[in-house]
Amino acid sequence: MITQCEKSEELDQLVERARTYTSKGKVADYIPALGQADPNALSIAVHYTDGRCLAAGDTEKTFTLQSISKVLTLALAIMDNGEDYVFERVGMEPTGDPFNSIAKLETMVPSKPLNPMINAGALAVTNMLSGNTIEEKLGRLLAFVHDMTGKTHITYSSKVAESEFKTANLNRSLCYFMKEHHIIKGDVEELIDLYTKQCAIEVNCNDLARIGLVIANEGKDPETGREIIPKQISRIVKTFMVTCGMYNASGEFAIKVGIPAKSGVSGGIIAAYPNKLGIGICGPALDDKGNSIAGIKLLEMMSARYGLSIF
Ligand code: DON
Repeated sequence: MITQCEKSEELDQLVERARTYTSKGKVADYIPALGQADPNALSIAVHYTDGRCLAAGDTEKTFTLQSISKVLTLALAIMDNGEDYVFERVGMEPTGDPFNSIAKLETMVPSKPLNPMINAGALAVTNMLSGNTIEEKLGRLLAFVHDMTGKTHITYSSKVAESEFKTANLNRSLCYFMKEHHIIKGDVEELIDLYTKQCAIEVNCNDLARIGLVIANEGKDPETGREIIPKQISRIVKTFMVTCGMYNASGEFAIKVGIPAKSGVSGGIIAAYPNKLGIGICGPALDDKGNSIAGIKLLEMMSARYGLSIF
């Protein structure tokens, strides 16, 4: 297990160049607890399959996964239920709408969320996780995170979870609409409770890069070779990261960066370069689509300099 990353002057320079963009972004505050983040912060960890690791910025500082958790719940839900069950209820198509839009749920016939990366699709996926209670389901998700990071102390921030639970009225609306259309079942408040806790799982850039590395490494732990996610499911997850991971900026991101990635409103970005490396970034100032503004710039610079596009 990597404990200490090498410092890289070149990466430091790229981070400082990208950091200048933070002033053009804004920290998310629709979840009040996220509004306290430092808008100028920017850090990155890069973990390679051969065990090397580079870091720049404050990579030990924790932040919540937010929508990055959607990648993990998708993998777990497919492992629990199989592909057919999951994709009968959630689609595979990108959307040009914002991550929390309700519009397509009404206009799509039959009504089903377009993909598992937008909020509606992710809520439906969380509803599919196996377990008898919220605690059991959350415990299984945390164990999955522990397997991927090798860190068994990782848990969720109750402060951020409670802050989102109190204000998640749009997500509640999506759930009630989906319940009416039999896409989800059970108690909506319990689902919102589980979803807000999943989004509030706290990691640092190294943890995120390690999760990205497992996804990049076809679901296997790069050190032990143990399978954590079946290869076919890690392939599905990476494909969704390319087509839907940055929401309605996914096309531009694929052209300018070209690495499977997923963002969260806390400013996190996870990226998985197949068979090579995992990246974890945190930069809380967001662009108007809810993606880390400096984090995306940093990935653009890295992709251009090191030829990282998979296309
Ligand atoms: O459901 C929400 O609104 C948040 N918990 C997560 C949204 C999110 O991270 C969108 N990402 N950029």
